[in-house]
Amino acid sequence: MRWTLSDITWSAFDPSAVDPALVEVVKTASLVEANSPDYVTYLKNVFPGDTGFHASVEQWGVEEAQHGAALGKWAELADPSFSFERALAAFKAGYGLDLDTDQSIRGSRLAELIARSVVESGTSSFYSAIRDATSEPVLKQVAHRIASDEFAHYQLFQKYLNTYEGSETLGRLKRLQVAISRVKEAEDEELAYAYYAANVLPAAPETPFDQAACTNAYYMRAFGLYQPQHIDNATRMILRAASFNPNSKGADLAVAGFWKLVQFKRGKLERAMAAA
Ligand SMILES: [Fe+2]
Ligand SMILES: [Fe+2]
Repeated sequence: MRWTLSDITWSAFDPSAVDPALVEVVKTASLVEANSPDYVTYLKNVFPGDTGFHASVEQWGVEEAQHGAALGKWAELADPSFSFERALAAFKAGYGLDLDTDQSIRGSRLAELIARSVVESGTSSFYSAIRDATSEPVLKQVAHRIASDEFAHYQLFQKYLNTYEGSETLGRLKRLQVAISRVKEAEDEELAYAYYAANVLPAAPETPFDQAACTNAYYMRAFGLYQPQHIDNATRMILRAASFNPNSKGADLAVAGFWKLVQFKRGKLERAMAAA
């Protein structure tokens, strides 16, 4: 464990520096992070008999759960009406993974490790973006700690990716497809349901779940956090995970394209919200 909740200076919390839009994003992230035990079970099923990997994944799950606890605790400081425990219970009641599988939903173990690396690329950039966007000192500390954990997780899955390269093969195009499809899943049900359980249900328990509305509401807030360097890092980490040179001319083009895509999506959401 690189840190624990007692390493955070909670007493430095400054309510005047809290941005309400960011509170919604942090509440959502706290639930997704706290859902890690389900993924530990899944990953252990997909890599049967690899005791080294099982031990690493157990530790990884403990760290992800701690991310959830730290973000949840900050959200409770920022919004005293928020209960991390209650929101997490609502999230778990409405959303669960299908764990009854011993095959990776990505098609192979190499593909699974690429997909995990993509997720860690995304989270490490996301928490770096939060750290750089907020002036609230406690959230800055928490996001900084989490961002470095996420980078270490990326390196962990890259290490196992290298190990499994010896026993499995996967073409470059297929690798890129796995990475792109995992990036697209950033807009999937899990995040939308976490937004719903953290931000909609506590205030209006009768509101039915609307996946598109929740996804849009979440990204309206989240996209605004990113600066070019965060997208640059994420893109190059994803390219490396898919075995492409992260420092080539093509990578520069991918970085520029990804930044444009984020700006385009953000503009589209803002226009849609303004028209609503
Ligand atoms: Fe995490
Ligand atoms: Fe992580």
